[in-house]
Amino acid sequence: MFYQSHPSSIMQRGQHLRIRQHVNPLSSSFSEPTEPPEWKEVFEDPMLPLMVDIGCGSGRFLIWHAKNSGERRNYLGLEIRQKLVDRTQFWVNELGLRNVYFMFANATVSFERIVSTYPGPLSLVSILCPDPHFKKRHHKRRVLQPSLADSIIKNLSLGGQVLIQSDVLEVAADMRERFDACSDVLEHIDCVDKDLQCDKEGWLLDNPMEIRTEREIHAELEGAIIYRRMYQKTRDVYY
Ligand SMILES: C[S@@+](CC[C@H](N)C(=O)[O-])C[C@H]1O[C@@H](n2cnc3c(N)ncnc32)[C@H](O)[C@@H]1O
Repeated sequence: MFYQSHPSSIMQRGQHLRIRQHVNPLSSSFSEPTEPPEWKEVFEDPMLPLMVDIGCGSGRFLIWHAKNSGERRNYLGLEIRQKLVDRTQFWVNELGLRNVYFMFANATVSFERIVSTYPGPLSLVSILCPDPHFKKRHHKRRVLQPSLADSIIKNLSLGGQVLIQSDVLEVAADMRERFDACSDVLEHIDCVDKDLQCDKEGWLLDNPMEIRTEREIHAELEGAIIYRRMYQKTRDVYY
């Protein structure tokens, strides 16, 4: 059998893995922050700059970077659906990658606890096509709450970057508002290079990351516009 060397109950060949489409991040089962991992056990070199992808979904985007990007960096995916994390981490182990790690976490409540213990610099945080939670009374379920935005900015190293994107303008604008409000420490990058600039509204005209996420590909195939914005930390913050 193809998976014989890894007889994990979730990954047996031919077995269908049922993964819930959505969870409610406000339910009591997600309210406790997840403990950070032993960094030296999950990464070969835990002093390398770290990229964190919040709500990483299937993890394909980060695995691609871990395998193909020439950057000396570690990659951490935070995802609230445990089964998705188990499946992704299975593939990381199969591939023998020691610079990428996926963990279960409600990022809204766990980011600070996890990332503040990382021994190296935090160089990039991405929030790519987060769940939109359209109804106004569900907006508090959105992953980027004020405390998370504060924690991202606080933990980013000087020169570190934030990338946000969504195929839902209202969601992109909501995230943008939170980071635009911190212009004293975060600078909006309106030109990544001469080929990648912003439109008149300040949205990046293309993806600066070489590869698209699954949600991004799906949305673009459906004809949606992706609203993206990038920031860079220019000054230290003290809370
Ligand atoms: C629409 S999917 C996008 C996945 C991926 N970023 C992409 O662009 O393909 C949003 C992901 O965020 C996860 N998520 C939602 N709330 C979260 C939270 N509070 N903490 C961590 N992950 C969360 C969901 O389970 C889902 O996998």
